[in-house]
Amino acid sequence: MRSDKRADDEFRPVKIELNVVKSALGSCYFEMGKTAVIAATYGPQDVKPKHLEKSDRGVLACNYNMLPFSVAGDRKRPGYDRRSVEISKVVRESLEPAIFMEEYPKCIIRVDMQILQADAGTRVVAINAASLALACAGISMRGLVSAVSAGRANGKILVDLTKEEEDAPDAIDVPVAILTKTGEITLLQMDGIASVDEMKKIVKQATVACEKLGLMQAEALKNGIHSI
Ligand code: CDP
Repeated sequence: MRSDKRADDEFRPVKIELNVVKSALGSCYFEMGKTAVIAATYGPQDVKPKHLEKSDRGVLACNYNMLPFSVAGDRKRPGYDRRSVEISKVVRESLEPAIFMEEYPKCIIRVDMQILQADAGTRVVAINAASLALACAGISMRGLVSAVSAGRANGKILVDLTKEEEDAPDAIDVPVAILTKTGEITLLQMDGIASVDEMKKIVKQATVACEKLGLMQAEALKNGIHSI
């Protein structure tokens, strides 16, 4: 039994609120258990600095940041670090295939993600929030991107590991994102060592969970708010 009594293939309770940032074109608050993020979208707008501009397509810029009070225990040192640069890059790569970038030549679309509370899975929760923020901003998209991590802890294959589970001695964490329309995987990372068989099971569990999350995201877009 997991400490929060979830089934092995169950993700944490989700809460979604759309357009929470009045000054942004589109925004989303996304909570999954004790991990919570706000994403806000700006643009399409002129590219600055100009040398990043592409004549035939748009540019997507993603910024992931953890707030100092988001982590348990000691405060996180404010500002960007190697980890936030890496996560900003993988989030951009996860979202970009969902956007019709060719419809935005010479423009930039910006997504800022602030982690309010971190209890593992911040990058996948940031992707879910960003995807909805882009949709709320009316950005032309093939469909939503849904993300969740799966992995192993205490000898079991689990969906949506908490920080406590991630800290197990045998832990493996595999964040996965999919394009909900096609099921194509746009993020696949791995922290830990798994056999090929184990990895197949983990990815399968994660994609099934992503599909469920995708339905909740779509419902939130229809209703403006969603929580379970
Ligand atoms: O958050 P995510 O699982 O995407 O990335 P991670 O690098 O595997 O971090 C796992 C967890 O470690 C975060 O969600 C936080 O709970 C915690 N963490 C932290 O407490 N302080 C940091 N500076 C970075 C991460």
